[in-house]
Amino acid sequence: MTKPKRLIAPSILAADFGRLGHELKKAEGAGADWIHLDVMDGRFVPPISFGAQAAAAARRETDLILDAHLMVSDPRSQLDDFVNAGADRFTFHIEAEIHAHRLCREIQEKGLKAGIALVPSTPVSALDELLHLVDQVLVMTVDPGWGGQRLIPSMLDKVRELRRIRLKRRRDFLIVIDGGFGRESAADVWDAGADAAVMGSAFYGAEDPGGELSECRRAGVSNQTKPTDSPDSLRIRD
Ligand code: DX5
Ligand code: ZN
Repeated sequence: MTKPKRLIAPSILAADFGRLGHELKKAEGAGADWIHLDVMDGRFVPPISFGAQAAAAARRETDLILDAHLMVSDPRSQLDDFVNAGADRFTFHIEAEIHAHRLCREIQEKGLKAGIALVPSTPVSALDELLHLVDQVLVMTVDPGWGGQRLIPSMLDKVRELRRIRLKRRRDFLIVIDGGFGRESAADVWDAGADAAVMGSAFYGAEDPGGELSECRRAGVSNQTKPTDSPDSLRIRD
């Protein structure tokens, strides 16, 4: 059985934008797997963050996988710009797109991995007709819009539910959590079955980001006895 690799994706929302290149190298040096891009339009969530131009700037600075998280009211309108910017993964919110099935296909046809995200009030059942299609499910473990919040523990029940469904239906989407990941929550996050975790303020706010990332990656390993239930087909894709 392939064990989930405990992927970690620093979010540049928590980075020093005046030194984006340096902040991306910091993530590389720390052994990060992906770079998480929190795109906010001021409508789907109140803050406005950045758009595809920031993704293009990040692409010029790093070879790490760029994992775009679209917290926007019209994600389809952003797809081509993120494809052209060099994003690798495009995750949008089920709450923002009636034609989610079509958008997932469009994302994949353009060569990107398709992700679907759930805000805390949206149940996993809302994804029933998409789980055969998506490459990743992003479980928001905080209310979207801001970094630095505490993880909502009950959201890990969604991770457990997704893990059960994935096994039962022999699917291979990745389960990603987003929000409030850090030293205190890491062991519970991995134990619940997440394959990847976004790490914003816990990474960029740390004295030693590399040490913090390593600490979170190995959290809970000592007492982990259960074999993982991820299907053989679950390979961590780029
Ligand atoms: C919140 C974003 C998260 C957030 C994570 O809307 O989607 O990615 O930036 O930041 P932390 O890790 O500080 O909760
Ligand atoms: Zn995010």
